[in-house]
Amino acid sequence: MEWTAVATARELGRRRKLRVEVDGLAIALFQTEGRVYAFADLCVHQDRSLFKGTLLHGKVICPGHQWQFDLETGHEADQDRCQPTYPVRVDDDGTIYVNLAPETVPARTAEEART
Ligand code: FES
Repeated sequence: MEWTAVATARELGRRRKLRVEVDGLAIALFQTEGRVYAFADLCVHQDRSLFKGTLLHGKVICPGHQWQFDLETGHEADQDRCQPTYPVRVDDDGTIYVNLAPETVPARTAEEART
């Protein structure tokens, strides 16, 4: 795994949201309940910035059309679509690292969901 330092916990701070760019890739960082999550910033729907979204009940809500992506998986249950997410590591000194290989959880097919 290749980890890239993208920010510090202090920069994320009380805003709980931060947009960073790594190698031309825009990443939205979110912090809630002591955990940090990294999402591709541009929404899979119509490229609105998820960084401008709202955190609510373990989800980030896109400001474009209110799709609700699960913070743990990036999955949008109503649409059955996934926003790319990235593994995050926070060191003891507060440095936030992101692994840029996207980690999306494949949505279950309707057939799998029945079993
Ligand atoms: S652009 Fe995100 S829900 Fe439409």
